[in-house]
Amino acid sequence: MNIYKPDLVEIKDIIDETPDIKTFKLQFKDPQLNKNFSFQAGQFAEYSVFGEGECTFCIASSPTRPEFLECSFKLYGKVTNAMRKLKVGDTLGLRGPYGNYFPVEEMKGKNVVFIAGGIGLAPVRCVIWNVLDLRSEFKDITIIYGARTEADIVYKNEIEEWKSMKDIKTIVTVDPGGESPNWKGEVGFVPTIVEKVAPKSENTVAIICGPPVMIKYTMPVMLKLGFTEENILTTLENRMKCGLGKCGRCNIGSVYVCKDGPVFSYQQLKELPEDY
Ligand code: FES
Repeated sequence: MNIYKPDLVEIKDIIDETPDIKTFKLQFKDPQLNKNFSFQAGQFAEYSVFGEGECTFCIASSPTRPEFLECSFKLYGKVTNAMRKLKVGDTLGLRGPYGNYFPVEEMKGKNVVFIAGGIGLAPVRCVIWNVLDLRSEFKDITIIYGARTEADIVYKNEIEEWKSMKDIKTIVTVDPGGESPNWKGEVGFVPTIVEKVAPKSENTVAIICGPPVMIKYTMPVMLKLGFTEENILTTLENRMKCGLGKCGRCNIGSVYVCKDGPVFSYQQLKELPEDY
């Protein structure tokens, strides 16, 4: 069996999230696979455009919503450029799911705080829906999301849905200068807003994903709020190629992001030998 051989998926819908981020809704061409494919929140897959190459993205949809597999991607290179040109009905290759996942089972009975910046909401959104679809099993839920400008906000309709839910707290912010005169959300960088919202740290798991600079400045705020390093989880998806622990491209010291991750606690990240 060729472990690099992708399965075929068809693009069922394309959503233009922002000027440079799209979401694909996918289904396997093989109906059996469509029925049997299973994954956990936080796992990733390798997506291929035939003749162009492969790209790594997290699975952005929730395992509790198996009808479509979704991925969101930003245009940044050859493969994503080729993906941008694809239309509904076109075929992609998909290998996966790979990697570890967020400990949703262990999070039951706890408060959950989701913090995301930019397209970092994609892996977080997967867990958000997973948790919301099992709402009664979790305590307080807080979502803090930041984008550079209003136009850069992804999953706009879903954010509105979260905002309308009475039993969760959803705060959206844009960077200073990124707001229009009609903007009703917060203005300020994510760490500042986290400090302002000050989610309680007791019996709480935090899931954080966003640009490195956001993570860097949010971590001290979290620690100040009393979060422990093992209760702050994040996901890395940079630098992966094979997804199988074979190409050696993703390793940071002896840790393979594709096999040991992509989900790590802040405590684990701190032990990694270099800047990740
Ligand atoms: S992506 Fe190839 S070894 Fe991890």
